[in-house]
Amino acid sequence: METTLIILKPDAVQRGLMGRIITRFEEKGLQIVGAKLMKISPELAATHYEAHKARPFYPGLVRFMTSSPVLVMAVRGIGAITIARSMMGATFGSKAAGGTIRGDFGVSNSFNLIHGSDSPEAAERELKLFFRDGEVLDFKRDGETWIYDSSSGKPE
Ligand code: RTP
Ligand code: MG
Repeated sequence: METTLIILKPDAVQRGLMGRIITRFEEKGLQIVGAKLMKISPELAATHYEAHKARPFYPGLVRFMTSSPVLVMAVRGIGAITIARSMMGATFGSKAAGGTIRGDFGVSNSFNLIHGSDSPEAAERELKLFFRDGEVLDFKRDGETWIYDSSSGKPE
């Protein structure tokens, strides 16, 4: 099982799209194991996006991410990082394919609704930035037996 960090960015919260985006993850069969509404501080935004520090869009990105509350979620499943990234779609709303979150709900290249960790290393690092010990929960869903085929002994 993998756990990934998803952030519903300020535009998703302000536009009232949280429920519809969460529904997509739930309907897919991914499990939400952590969630909180928070305002990101400039320091946290800088740490989270430190890989982009030298990029021209960086100051605007930090301004955007700290402009209004976000919903951060820990989302779990087999291959959850790749699955979530493909559900999100390409970075730019103008290019993202229909059927993806960015493709269906936005047109902007910087107000692109959602963040998802892009590797297992990034997920581990980012989950620690946004969730304290005990805030990501381990629990079994009653419907799990119909989400994964476990007949071989290993869920798939
Ligand atoms: P994210 O990290 O937010 O999940 O997005 P991503 O991997 O798809 O894209 P990334 O290259 O990591 O860029 C981070 C965020 O910076 C903004 N951005 N603006 N105007 C621009 O050229 C530009 N490029 C990137 C977007 O908000 C993007 O999600
Ligand atoms: Mg990224």
